[in-house]
Amino acid sequence: MIIEKQEDVTEAVLGEMHRTPDARTKELLAALVKHVHAFVRETRMTEQEFQAAIGHINAIGQHTTPSHNEAMLLAGALGVSNLICLLNNGSHGTRPTQANNLGPFFRDGAPPCRNGDSLVRSETPGPRLEFHGRVEDANGRPIAGAEVEVWHSSPIGLYENQDPSQAEMNLRGRFTTEVDGSFSFRSVKPAGYPVPTDGPAGTLLAAQKRHNMRPAHLHFLITKPGYKTIASQVYDAADPHLETDSQFGVTRALIADFSAERVEFTFVLEQGESWRPKPPISAKATASA
Ligand SMILES: [Fe+2]
Repeated sequence: MIIEKQEDVTEAVLGEMHRTPDARTKELLAALVKHVHAFVRETRMTEQEFQAAIGHINAIGQHTTPSHNEAMLLAGALGVSNLICLLNNGSHGTRPTQANNLGPFFRDGAPPCRNGDSLVRSETPGPRLEFHGRVEDANGRPIAGAEVEVWHSSPIGLYENQDPSQAEMNLRGRFTTEVDGSFSFRSVKPAGYPVPTDGPAGTLLAAQKRHNMRPAHLHFLITKPGYKTIASQVYDAADPHLETDSQFGVTRALIADFSAERVEFTFVLEQGESWRPKPPISAKATASA
């Protein structure tokens, strides 16, 4: 259509939606156009601001590498990751859930382990941690044979993929729950850590005068056919950044006492689709990266 006035632009773009064969794609794109156009109108975005916004969006891609996922980091910093998680878990957002953000550091290929094994694959000084987990269904019955992938930062706050001094897959492992739903591993205590600030996520935090810390946590991905897959994170109750997580991930259901060497925690899986999230990264950083 020929555009006569500013309101026509929205109508013209929405008018092209009827060609979209997939109904869900059509719904998502139409809502995106409506909200983006409304955002531009509400904020009276200037041409200079629009140019700057395009620069930020391009920089998301430019900062993404096989060992770093800037879009995932930014989604967390805007609270979108946890909102999506909470809307899609816990009986569609009506109940507490152990589901949490996958985060930007999940990698495929964690080595298979036996329960009780250590995740430490190269010298990693720090306080020891023993984790005893249990996976159960919504009625408290144990789920045997669930696959539990674990990953976490080192006691100085670096994941192996960020730190060439750590062995490949250090502090990562894959476990299977026993008949009673239990799994366990030994490791070192993770530290809270600063998220990278050299890309658009850092620009966002600086503009708001926000810090870039995450409270200390352990990551989990739990899968079992017949149950809805959950990514989870378990947070250290004593961490000073629990209330101000730069990724807005901390929920009441995910706080545990890390003060003793032994941590115990129960994960509940809902019935549903077992699926495997796409790993946000595929490689470890090299010394020169
Ligand atoms: Fe993390």
